[in-house]
Amino acid sequence: MTIPYPSSQPLPAIGAVTPPSGGARPRLAFLGTGYLGATYAICFAELGYEVLGFDVDEAKIAKLAGGAVPFHEPGLDELLRRNLAAGRLRFTTSYKETADFADVHFICVGTPQRADGMGADLVYVEAAVTGLAQHLTRKALIVGKSTVPVGTAEWIEQLVGKHAPADLGVEVAWSPEFLQEGFAVEDVLRPNRIVIGVKTEWANAMLYAAHKGVFDLAATEDREVPLVVTDFATAELVKVAANAFLATKISFINAMAEVCEVAGGDVTQLARAIGYDPRIGNRFLQAGVGFGGGCLPKDIRAFQARAQELGAGEALRFLHEVDLINLRRRTRVLTLAAELLDRRSGPAGPDLSGTRIAVLGATFKPNSDDVRDAPSLAVAGLLAKAGADVRVYDPEGMENARIAQPDLTYEPSMADAVRGADLVCVLTEWADFRNADPNAIGELVAARRVIDGRNCLDASLWTHAGWEYRGMGRPERTIRH
Ligand SMILES: NC(=O)c1ccc[n+]([C@@H]2O[C@H](COP(=O)([O-])OP(=O)(O)OC[C@H]3O[C@@H](n4cnc5c(N)ncnc54)[C@H](O)[C@@H]3O)[C@@H](O)[C@H]2O)c1
Repeated sequence: MTIPYPSSQPLPAIGAVTPPSGGARPRLAFLGTGYLGATYAICFAELGYEVLGFDVDEAKIAKLAGGAVPFHEPGLDELLRRNLAAGRLRFTTSYKETADFADVHFICVGTPQRADGMGADLVYVEAAVTGLAQHLTRKALIVGKSTVPVGTAEWIEQLVGKHAPADLGVEVAWSPEFLQEGFAVEDVLRPNRIVIGVKTEWANAMLYAAHKGVFDLAATEDREVPLVVTDFATAELVKVAANAFLATKISFINAMAEVCEVAGGDVTQLARAIGYDPRIGNRFLQAGVGFGGGCLPKDIRAFQARAQELGAGEALRFLHEVDLINLRRRTRVLTLAAELLDRRSGPAGPDLSGTRIAVLGATFKPNSDDVRDAPSLAVAGLLAKAGADVRVYDPEGMENARIAQPDLTYEPSMADAVRGADLVCVLTEWADFRNADPNAIGELVAARRVIDGRNCLDASLWTHAGWEYRGMGRPERTIRH
């Protein structure tokens, strides 16, 4: 029976469901073992499920199977090793093995921005779904988790109809993901909500069974995890709407930073003051070099492209402005650097040749090694293009940064990066940088000038140590000793 679930409807009573494999709990597969899929596979094994992780990247699968997480995520290595040892978690590059194993298949592959426009590239989704569907030999549920344009779940249903044997009754559902890198383990085990888009009672019951471990954990901790059961389109839209809202909030405070810069205000105090209003709240209200990473930038662009296709382009036109404000913050660091180094800007921008600049931070946020669309690396590139001798250091992102921006110079430690620098730019708010001793660093640099691209340093501490300090959206503080 097909039953549409409006999001406002309370959760229907969920009947017992026997997974097609015959076990008490559904067996789970995660297709695509990147930041999202590997974290999920490992955490759901930790919750007691039998789990198989699948990827087309043989090196990644070999690493995971050998007990090494191929990226930096606090707490994940230990969980991986524990669950491999317990025999609940395995990894494979075989579609057939995946199809034979699981009852619920979560699609967690990448959905990057298309090379020829702003839309999302769905080639990996298509490959994973068709590769899996043709090997299925019994009923199964395919659940999309990747972030996609609205309408993708319906398209996947058609793909499944074309590639899976018709008599199996394979079904599709959608369950968007909200984990944050750096907090991913906690976000997966203790999510602040679960959203599922389903068309049938069976899909609803299977997805509930596939998440029961999360609900049970919450019950033992006297918590509740809100569950929103809805239709495909709403489930898909929830994710991009959430990211659009977060991006807008960051760009809003960065727009205020721009105004503060010309008006002589301090955006950090402004943010604090407006953040006390519970309707506004103080989270994601930190002015700085803006957002980046593998999600927000490409998701707001893909959302605009999809809305345009659907005839609602005007509704999301503001997201173009959100994107522009965000990108302007990167060039602001270049302008600030020129000001601090007393270099004039010509029509081609400032000439920073002959200067040495330390860039602290390469990842898009702390506690991750993800450098995708990282503002810090983009700024490092701008500074180098302007002629500066740029030295980059990051606690976890060096390997990925070298691949993404091979032309930059990387140093093995913070001390090496700042030694002899005319200017230090803190562009990712790692604790190592936030807590750095301005006096000790001051002994290493050629001149005590710092740009706090994340407004994460204690400005008075640095100025009292004789640094010329410039934050984002903050008035000049130059207390020299
Ligand atoms: N990283 C996050 O914090 C996060 C949070 C929420 C949602 N998402 C979304 O999740 C999706 C994945 O993001 P990610 O950060 O994990 O990306 P990622 O690049 O780290 O991982 C994607 C993985 O998919 C694999 N892959 C490609 N083709 C495949 C195929 N045919 N079959 C199986 N695997 C295949 C790749 O080898 C790679 O390991 C994206 O849509 C992203 O927007 C990510």
